[in-house]
Amino acid sequence: MTLYSRVRPLAFKLPAETAHDLGKRTLRAAQSTWPTRAALSSAYQYEHPALAVDLFETRFSNPVGVAAGFDKNAEVTHALAALGFGFVEIGTVTPYPQDGNDRPRLFRLLEDGGMINRMGFNGQGMERVKSRLESDGTPEIPLGVNVGKMNSSNEREAIEDYRRVFDRLSPFADYVVVNVSCPNTPDEFDEGSPEHLRSIFETLEAENDREVPILVKIGPDSPDESMFDLVDIVREFDLDGIVATNTSTSRRDLESPQQEEWGGLSGKPIEERSTEVIRTLADYTDGELPIIGVGGVDSAASAYEKIRAGASLVQLYTGFVYEGPSTAKRINRGLVKILERDGFSSVEDAVGADVVDRS
Ligand SMILES: Cc1cc2nc3c(=O)[nH]c(=O)nc-3n(C[C@H](O)[C@H](O)[C@H](O)COP(=O)(O)O)c2cc1C
Repeated sequence: MTLYSRVRPLAFKLPAETAHDLGKRTLRAAQSTWPTRAALSSAYQYEHPALAVDLFETRFSNPVGVAAGFDKNAEVTHALAALGFGFVEIGTVTPYPQDGNDRPRLFRLLEDGGMINRMGFNGQGMERVKSRLESDGTPEIPLGVNVGKMNSSNEREAIEDYRRVFDRLSPFADYVVVNVSCPNTPDEFDEGSPEHLRSIFETLEAENDREVPILVKIGPDSPDESMFDLVDIVREFDLDGIVATNTSTSRRDLESPQQEEWGGLSGKPIEERSTEVIRTLADYTDGELPIIGVGGVDSAASAYEKIRAGASLVQLYTGFVYEGPSTAKRINRGLVKILERDGFSSVEDAVGADVVDRS
C-alpha cells in the first residue's frame, strides 16, 4: 500500500479544488529546500536510456509530462521534475490575472475515473509567471508554455493576447502551445475558425525570432474534416506539432451523478477518443508531425497505446490526481518492460507503430 493510497480517501473528502490547492502547497513546500527536493527525487525518479525522446531539438529524459492546467502559474515545476516527470507544461497563461469561473468548478467523477472542470482560465497572468520563472529558475526538465487569451477579449484583442504572452514567456520555453480548444471559456467568436487561426500563427511567426517550437492544442470533439483543416493550417505555417487532446463536452456512457455539471470532461472517459484523434492525425500526416498525446493516461499501458497511435510524448492531469506522486515512475518503469516485451529498443522506436507503414 502506497502512502498516497492512504492519503487519497481523505483528500477526496475535500472539495476537488481545495484538495488540488493543498496538494500544490505541499509540492511548493517540498521544492523549496534542497533536502526535500532531493528526497523526492530519490524516491520517485526513474531513469532508463530507452525512455529518452529527442524532439524540438530538446532531450526529454522520459516521455511522460504534466499537462497544462495543473501548474498554471509555474509554482511547482521543480517538484514535478523531482517526481520524475519528463517535462511540464505550465499555463494556460493569459496576459493579465483572471479569476475564472465561480467555485465550485472542479468535480471528480469517481465511478468513471474522470473529472469535469470549468475553471475558465483562472491564473495570475504573464508578469507574475515571468517573475516566478526568473526567481525560481526554470526546471531541469523541458518546459512547455501554454498560452491563452483573456475571457473578455474579442477576436482582434485575442490575437494581441497570444502575441503578448508569447513575447513575455517564450524565452523560458522549450515549446509553446496555442490553446484554442478550451471548452469552458465564454467565447463570442469561433476560436477554431481557419481565419482566426491563420491570424494567430501569422502574428506569432513574426514574433518568433528565437524559433521556439510552436504547437496547437486541439479538442477531442471536432469531426475529422475540421481536424484535417487545422492540420493543413499547421503545415501552412510550418508549426511544430499538435497537442491532442483537450477536455471534452461529451457525456457519453458516464455513471457519476456529477456528469450533470457543465465543463470539460477529462480522464478515463476521454481516453479512447483522444487516442483515436492521435491515430487519425498520425495517419493523416504520415507520422511526420509531432504529436503530444493527452487524455486518460494513467498507466504504462495507456501511455504505450498513445505512443503506438503516434504520440512522441504523452501528458496527464487527471491520472496524476487519481494515482498520486508515483505516477510518472510507475508509468516509466512499466513502459520499459512493455517495450522490451514487444521488441522495441526505445520509446522513439514505438512511436506510431500502429499507424505508420514501415515497409
Ligand atoms: C482542472 C483542469 C484544468 C485544466 N486547465 C487547462 C488549461 O489551463 N489549459 C489547457 O490547455 N488544458 C487544460 N486542461 C486540460 C488538460 O491539459 C488535458 O488536456 C485534459 O485534462 C486531458 O488530460 P487528462 O485526461 O490526463 O486529464 C485542464 C484539465 C483539468 C482537469
